[in-house]
Amino acid sequence: MTYAIVIHEPGGPEALQWQEVAMPQPQGDQVLIRQIAVGLNFIDVYHRMGYYKLKQLPAIIGSEGAGEVVAVGPDCQLGYVPGQRVCYAGGPMGGYAQHRVIPERWLVGIPDNLSFELAAGVMAKGLTAHYLLKRTFYVDPNTTMLVHAAAGGVGLLLCQWGKILGATVIGTVGSDEKAELARKNGCEYPINYNTEDFVERVRDVTGGRKCNVVYDSVGADTFMRSLDCLMNFGLMVSYGQSSGPAPAIDMGELQKRGSLFCTRPSLEHYIQDPTEYIIGATAILQLVAEGKVRVNVKQSYYLKDAARAHADLEARKTTGATIFFTEA
Ligand SMILES: NC(=O)c1ccc[n+]([C@@H]2O[C@H](COP(=O)([O-])OP(=O)(O)OC[C@H]3O[C@@H](n4cnc5c(N)ncnc54)[C@H](OP(=O)(O)O)[C@@H]3O)[C@@H](O)[C@H]2O)c1
Repeated sequence: MTYAIVIHEPGGPEALQWQEVAMPQPQGDQVLIRQIAVGLNFIDVYHRMGYYKLKQLPAIIGSEGAGEVVAVGPDCQLGYVPGQRVCYAGGPMGGYAQHRVIPERWLVGIPDNLSFELAAGVMAKGLTAHYLLKRTFYVDPNTTMLVHAAAGGVGLLLCQWGKILGATVIGTVGSDEKAELARKNGCEYPINYNTEDFVERVRDVTGGRKCNVVYDSVGADTFMRSLDCLMNFGLMVSYGQSSGPAPAIDMGELQKRGSLFCTRPSLEHYIQDPTEYIIGATAILQLVAEGKVRVNVKQSYYLKDAARAHADLEARKTTGATIFFTEA
């Protein structure tokens, strides 16, 4: 037997229940992993509360982890062997568990100098930063970008990587401490949006030019004013909704503000192609292994305390990445 966090009914953090479950057996192209560390992502909150519907109940949520291969299914072809250190993000849910099975295409080997904690803390957020900076919009030294929730998990990676690519990085955050953290991670102009008007500050720091691209994961509270931070033909990337869903938008608002573009992307689509997935994963793991990007695992919990971690994430108490230790 092994343990997992199981959801019987969607709801608040208390819906996350630690219980004994049967040891999964790898079928077909599946690999059984003993997970050492598991990543927490805001999408886990949407799944827990039922905002994104779970296909069946009871359910084990979670889409990111790192651990060791225990056994491989009869149809596996990629050569994974027991004891190998692997990580993943995406694929079928089931991450909040000491042991899980997952199709082998989702596995990536962990570089020797990277811990399980860092691998579990960076895969999903790093793949997200990769597609946002390289594929949704191609960031280069001519780019001025605005990152909301800049001290968050994805936010700190966008700031660091944006700076590496030569962009001017402006970020919004909810406190002065978070502003300092964002600054240390490549955000040249952190703005505390609880005390400053971020649209005015963006105008100030860009000398009125505004931004080529806004990365908005906050949604309801920031979406409309984010549009005011874009220059003509700028791209609004609404990639999350930590404060609630972004409003429905009248296309005329995009025209009025300067022939703007707008997209609502999802990591799921950007990693559907296995080659694109491996390209993104390799890029982020290499940057971390070479010490060019810091993972900033700022919180860790035991998996059995997942409810507390969810409450902290929703209460905006966390910065950077959060991971769970499974004690497996
Ligand atoms: N579309 C995709 O492909 C994709 C992939 C990964 C993540 N995401 C999205 O990206 C966002 C960031 O994910 P993450 O895991 O790195 O989380 P996170 O940014 O570390 O945590 C959320 C942060 O959002 C800010 N926030 C603003 N209003 C909030 C509210 N009402 N409630 C809670 N937080 C609020 C808070 O920072 P401040 O206090 O500084 O405001 C909070 O710390 C999430 O919205 C997630 O769904 C999207």
